[in-house]
Amino acid sequence: MYETFFHLDGTPFQLNPDPQFYFPSKGHRRAFAYLKYGVYQGDGFIVITGEIGAGKTTMVRTLLEELDDEKIVAAQLISTQLDADDLLHSVASAFGLPNQGLSKADLLANVEAFLAEVETSGRRALLVVDEAQNLTPRAMEELRMLSNFQRGSRALLQSFLVGQPELRDILRNPTMTQLRQRIIASYHLGPMDRDETRAYVLHRLKHVGWKGDPQIEDAVFERLHAVTGGLPRLINAVCHRLFLGACMNERHVIGGADLNETINEMRDEIAPEGPLAAAAAGAARGAGPGGAGVVRPFLLSAVVSRLDRIEKSVTNAVRLLEDITGEEAKRPAAGVKPVRMRFGVRPPGR
Ligand SMILES: Nc1ncnc2c1ncn2[C@@H]1O[C@H](COP(=O)(O)OP(=O)(O)OP(=O)(O)O)[C@@H](O)[C@H]1O
Ligand SMILES: [Mg+2]
Repeated sequence: MYETFFHLDGTPFQLNPDPQFYFPSKGHRRAFAYLKYGVYQGDGFIVITGEIGAGKTTMVRTLLEELDDEKIVAAQLISTQLDADDLLHSVASAFGLPNQGLSKADLLANVEAFLAEVETSGRRALLVVDEAQNLTPRAMEELRMLSNFQRGSRALLQSFLVGQPELRDILRNPTMTQLRQRIIASYHLGPMDRDETRAYVLHRLKHVGWKGDPQIEDAVFERLHAVTGGLPRLINAVCHRLFLGACMNERHVIGGADLNETINEMRDEIAPEGPLAAAAAGAARGAGPGGAGVVRPFLLSAVVSRLDRIEKSVTNAVRLLEDITGEEAKRPAAGVKPVRMRFGVRPPGR
């Protein structure tokens, strides 16, 4: 709704990973270069990790749009807890191959024949696995097996593993030694710095025809970086609310006090463990720019977010143990709610 009020051609701060808005920060450019190097090498794994909402999916989609499909046959998997069998089915389906009702051996044979055909036609096959931190150890092993397919000395498949920081921990595990040896490059995508945060906001605004309405005071950019830690998804979420608030109040100038008010409103909705939670606490007490350093002991949502991470790590550890021992761990009975529900708080959205 604020688009009309500010005469914009579209919504500048959406939460979907839309390549049209791609902003090449230093980190994004670097990660992008690694991926391009991988495409050029056509062999082994490239691993890109990054904080939640740092822009991994946006970057990968931007790359996939750029690739010349006369030369590269690319397939993308979004891994939500894929196990080994699901993985092979998903890979076959992502490359457009039949996969229903086939045995594992048939699936493997089909995928190999397809990859060989791609190679013969002078093209290269690329598999991108996003959210790879959710792959089970067995699924990782299947991926490694796929990367072993060769024609002469040429590998038939290049894979990108893209995921949140837990992916690094998973890959460090001793059971992953063989896969690790197939990694040709890895990069961790960090947040944007202060100048980039400003340039990022202006980039998104200009993309929707912004001509200075609303006017944004310098103090906003300073504080925005402090409260979001330079993470694009948080920047979008905060800016969206900031613009909405300005529109509701029929204002065409946005200043530091407006941002404080927005953060205060949002603190119970989005509160990552880091800067926004601290800033929310500061803003709640009327701290001006720079007040982000005053941290309330903790916010409930930060605790919830931490519990989520711990829960995920424990699940991964149990899976690894199951894999090593071949035994299946006892799961909690159906209907048992995760600890966080006792607080009655929604976990921070992604
Ligand atoms: N380089 C960028 N240029 C433009 N927008 C970006 C960029 N990076 C991230 N964004 C925006 O930030 C939001 C989060 O990006 P994205 O979904 O790519 O993050 P992610 O790292 O994949 O997150 P997750 O860890 O949850 O998978 C999206 O709204 C996206 O449009
Ligand atoms: Mg993503």
